[in-house]
Amino acid sequence: MPFNDTFLEELRSKNEISEVIGAYVNLKRAGRLYKGLCPFHGEKTPSFTVYPDTQSFYCFGCGVGGDVVSFIRKAENLDYTEAVKLLADRSGMAMPDSGYDDSMLKRRNRIYDMNKEAAHFFFSQLIDKKNAHALQYYFDRGYTFDTIKHFGLGYAPDSWDALKKHLNEKRYSNEELYAANLLRKSSKGTYYDNFRNRVIIPIIDIRGRVVGFGGRVLDDSKPKYLNTSDTLAYKKTNQIFAMNFAKNHADKGIILCEGYMDVIALHQAGFENAVASCGTSLTPEQVRTISKYTDTVILSQDADEAGRKAVDKSIGLFGTVGVKVKVINFTGAKDPDEFIQKFGADRFKALIEGAETDTEYKLLLAREKYDLTSNAGRADYVGEAARILSALDPVKRDIYASEIAEQTKVSKTAILSECKRLAGRRERRAKREINRSAMQMRDEKDKINPEKARYKAAALAEERVIAVLINHPDFLRTVEERLTEEDFVTAFNRHIFTVLKDRIAAGNSIHMSAMAQVLTAEELSVLTGLEAFGRGLSHPKQECLESIGTLKAEKQKTLKPNPDELSDDEFRELFNNS
Ligand code: CTP
Ligand code: MN
Repeated sequence: MPFNDTFLEELRSKNEISEVIGAYVNLKRAGRLYKGLCPFHGEKTPSFTVYPDTQSFYCFGCGVGGDVVSFIRKAENLDYTEAVKLLADRSGMAMPDSGYDDSMLKRRNRIYDMNKEAAHFFFSQLIDKKNAHALQYYFDRGYTFDTIKHFGLGYAPDSWDALKKHLNEKRYSNEELYAANLLRKSSKGTYYDNFRNRVIIPIIDIRGRVVGFGGRVLDDSKPKYLNTSDTLAYKKTNQIFAMNFAKNHADKGIILCEGYMDVIALHQAGFENAVASCGTSLTPEQVRTISKYTDTVILSQDADEAGRKAVDKSIGLFGTVGVKVKVINFTGAKDPDEFIQKFGADRFKALIEGAETDTEYKLLLAREKYDLTSNAGRADYVGEAARILSALDPVKRDIYASEIAEQTKVSKTAILSECKRLAGRRERRAKREINRSAMQMRDEKDKINPEKARYKAAALAEERVIAVLINHPDFLRTVEERLTEEDFVTAFNRHIFTVLKDRIAAGNSIHMSAMAQVLTAEELSVLTGLEAFGRGLSHPKQECLESIGTLKAEKQKTLKPNPDELSDDEFRELFNNS
């Protein structure tokens, strides 16, 4: 269902693009533009650009671009109407009355409602006398009743249909409950409660909606946890447990744990900046979310082998978004929950204060691996340490090199020169990597216009014409006197040109938000790329005219028949005529 230009115009003016995107990407002003790290592909140098003048964005790295609506579509994984709805809600605008299709949105909202109902139900079961053992379970873990209420903890009774009955009474159908993963379906097609005889931890998103649940057994049976699987309202890999609370305390850094129970224990002990991923290992999406709220993360994963692996992975992931990492090294307990129970909040506070930087942590692990009393052990340790230091800036490198020189009695000069050699190698490898991904990106883009590879010169000329036109619609008259869509060589550009030309001629908006309704997301990305390119031309109109000339010449070449493909008769005829 298309929206009219006036509505979209107002939507756009009330949702300033740099503000909207600023909530997702850390944007830095650069003259009239903003730059930041692209949220749609991994990168270390910012090629993601926001243009307040035209209210559009474009990433020179991955070629994604568009207007504020297409950004929200991609960032929130919504369809066009849902994205418009989100922005309308955000800016207090009413949606137009016309019957746009918002069924997906409705279904998603129903899941939020069902989940909220379910959370209430689980809580009421927890405080029901007949389930005293469940409440006792939490008390045994040291949780107070305030903590239980704060997190909305609950209990799913030992029944196949207690929740089902309750929610059926509230007029939620079994199909809907199944879609929310609150019910399961047997092979015979009968529905039954997903969570049974488990203590329940609601997962609440940043906007305060109950998106899913974790359920833990009360004893040692397996599986220990059962989690809501992905639904329309819940994507496990994007969610961070307790971020709804922690975001208000993120100035102290974010403490990242492994489990729900760790987080709950830490909050109760006054560390309200603690979070955990929801039953998955840390993902780039979660890292990106955390980086929006803080510049320091304190890794507090379990003290076992798996925990160490998690720390390693986390250090890498936070490195790509420029978040500083500290690592808590706790001994005497297997996880933060147990540590707090055993030693109390003050000792945990001291751990945070004494937390190592990621470099110190890595060096410590390396040191543990080798026997520093033997020559071979020291040589290996210095080699590994140099590799760790080679990623640092010169000042830090110098400081740590002094320390290592002292520990190993290897000269600091030797350590530093090894660092330098390794840093050079690292840099060359990174360059090769960038080149490779740039080539991949180009191939990807060429898939959108498959004819471009064959008719390179023509396609480039076409793109230039489009690039100028989108920035200077007043130039259409001049262009049209010299060029029609028939002159285009590649079908893709011909399509874009036709859409653009018809809209300009009809007086319709050619702003990206209007174009988003008539082009596909890929087409829109290409067009925003061209818009950005056209903006950078110093003599746009002159270049446009030159490109028209080029295009016409290239078109002629494609029209000239290839003699190899003609029959003898055709060939003779051609010969006679010329
Ligand atoms: N987890 C899971 N499924 C499992 C085991 C674990 O989803 N079968 C996830 C849960 O999110 C859990 C986290 O991994 O919170 C950490 O697991 P673990 O350390 O085993 O659990 P704890 O939270 O420490 O729980 P407890 O203290 O009760 O053992
Ligand atoms: Mn635990």
